[in-house]
Amino acid sequence: MKILRTLAETKRHIDSILSGGATIGFVPTMGALHEGHLTLIRKAKMATDHVTASIFVNPIQFNNPEDLLKYPREEAADIRKLQDAGCDMVFIPTVDEMYPVPDTTIFEFGNLDKVMEGKFRPGHFNGVAIVVKKLFEILQPHQAFFGEKDYQQLAIIRNMVSQIGLPVRIIPCKTVREPDGLAMSSRNKRLSPEERAMAPVIYRILRKAKNLREQMTVQQLTDWAREEFSKHPAFALEYFEIVDADTLQPVESWENNDRIIACTAARLGNVRLIDNIKFF
Ligand code: PAJ
Repeated sequence: MKILRTLAETKRHIDSILSGGATIGFVPTMGALHEGHLTLIRKAKMATDHVTASIFVNPIQFNNPEDLLKYPREEAADIRKLQDAGCDMVFIPTVDEMYPVPDTTIFEFGNLDKVMEGKFRPGHFNGVAIVVKKLFEILQPHQAFFGEKDYQQLAIIRNMVSQIGLPVRIIPCKTVREPDGLAMSSRNKRLSPEERAMAPVIYRILRKAKNLREQMTVQQLTDWAREEFSKHPAFALEYFEIVDADTLQPVESWENNDRIIACTAARLGNVRLIDNIKFF
């Protein structure tokens, strides 16, 4: 597996791959890799000729300085995992390499970034869109793979790609979970053993909510889920929303909508966890 750190050498490498007629698959990451990330790599491997990944903890998407500081960094282990998963090339730039001057682009996402994560993490999605656009320009993938765990991020990326007209296909991938249901996340490493034992409550509530939907109105189900979280005082619930899976706007009833998703974010100690479940 090739390990590249500068824009210049990466562009040269990509040009040579493209001139040979190969298709490029791309998996952007912030490192501290787990099976969720590696599943995206394997999916890319099946769909394209040359799989590229990136590891870059993007400072401009962190609205919380402590979260940025404490974000796990495990480059040597990540490189081994990528290699074992069949990745062909990884791009690992420095902050200076990516942002020689500050990027002040402001994206317009309509209502997509006004809800849920966007509401609780101001500026987060603008920072995500800036870095993903840059990475797409450098790595020129035919297909890029994103996890449904970050469902709103996926919607933002799709919107950005269609706004700009970038020639890349965005491929969504199912959330990979631990055996107890907890969605895999690099941040799980920061949970204490007691918090880790509590964390599967999130997906348990989501699954129960999905099962209860035929017995309740949207409002009743939302209230029920919020109440369930409040029974576990270790959690500080940020939001539990039942939304349209495409617009991400709250729905008021089950009628006339067969694409509904429940999304939630909660803090467990100092760690912020997100998850979602599709009702379709
Ligand atoms: P990161 O959190 O490292 O995630 C990288 C990719 O892995 C994202 O597409 C994310 O949705 C996916 N992923 C994470 N956990 C997953 C799981 N349990 N199952 C399936 N997929 C999972 O998301 C980011 O990094 C950044 O915002 C990034 C897009 C790299 C831009 O900086």
